[in-house]
Amino acid sequence: MPNEIVLSADRIVKTYTVGKRTVEAVKEISFDVFKNEIFALLGPNGSGKTSTIKMLLGLTLPNAGCINMLGFQIPKDVNKVLGHTGAILEGARNLYWHMSVMENVYYFANIKGKEVAQVKEPMELWAEKLNMANNLNMPVGRLSRGMQQKAALICCLAMNPSILILDEPLLGLDVMTMFEMEDAIRELKKYTTVILSSHNLRFVERVADRLAILKEGSLIAMGPINELKKSISLFQFRLTLQKREANWGYLQDIESMHSKGVKVKVTEVDDYTDIVELTLSQPELIFDIMSTLKEYNAVPIEISTLGESFEEVFLSLIERGEQLEACV
Ligand SMILES: Nc1ncnc2c1ncn2[C@@H]1O[C@H](COP(=O)(O)OP(=O)(O)OP(=O)(O)O)[C@@H](O)[C@H]1O
Ligand SMILES: [Mg+2]
Repeated sequence: MPNEIVLSADRIVKTYTVGKRTVEAVKEISFDVFKNEIFALLGPNGSGKTSTIKMLLGLTLPNAGCINMLGFQIPKDVNKVLGHTGAILEGARNLYWHMSVMENVYYFANIKGKEVAQVKEPMELWAEKLNMANNLNMPVGRLSRGMQQKAALICCLAMNPSILILDEPLLGLDVMTMFEMEDAIRELKKYTTVILSSHNLRFVERVADRLAILKEGSLIAMGPINELKKSISLFQFRLTLQKREANWGYLQDIESMHSKGVKVKVTEVDDYTDIVELTLSQPELIFDIMSTLKEYNAVPIEISTLGESFEEVFLSLIERGEQLEACV
């Protein structure tokens, strides 16, 4: 079935009270996650990603809103989905250190009501893929941090979860291990649905089908990366202009459009060429820019849209925040 929804969060809110202070960590956000997709939560530090993930897992209670996972209400029916979900939390060590990786897998299988025979094959499969086949009998406490992270992932995957939730799966990993994790996560799509959070934009760009961007607890954008790029390219342009004595005034006129919502950054390439980067609050403002250029007979020799790199898109969305409502 195309786009079958496996998780739905509807206007969820999380507020923490610390002494007399109240922190609105998550402010009425809503999103759906589709079967077998990789859905990424992105946002600056403190934007509410971990709080959202903890609510999805029933580890913390939402102050308002509903979560439906695999047809069950969270947190009310969280026990009914435990056997179908796996999670690795930010920096948390989910495993028992004195036991080997394999003993951990069998121990958690037992808790989840699964037989050793059910989990042995996926455990060996993922241990192989993650280059951990020789470490299955090692006590977790004696593995390196990257290996522990991989062991935690193997332990989750051995249970064949329908939904896997990973908060910062690349935290503290070296480049090689990051690539191994990335390959494994990309492959996971065949087996399960993945919800992850990460600050590593390159990784997210490579693995995620759709992403949701949080800023100060609000959802400011959501959709496939290409859609987000397109939405940005309507607002950001780079013009290369030939400077001539007769057209010097155009720049001043464009800069004076600031109050209308035009932001300008000029780079002088040489005595004859300017590169003008424009950020517009409305795509239609490009007509005003073009009229001004026409007035001064300043013909752009090159026009391009920004937003080609995901970093640019991300920063631009964060900068503009609430102006861009969730799309797609
Ligand atoms: N247990 C808690 N008690 C009080 N405030 C909390 C608690 N957990 C999180 N917060 C606050 O809620 C806000 C959101 O935090 P959260 O950990 O969800 O952000 P995050 O997006 O995961 O950040 P990071 O990228 O740093 O992991 C922050 O202001 C944080 O200080
Ligand atoms: Mg976090």
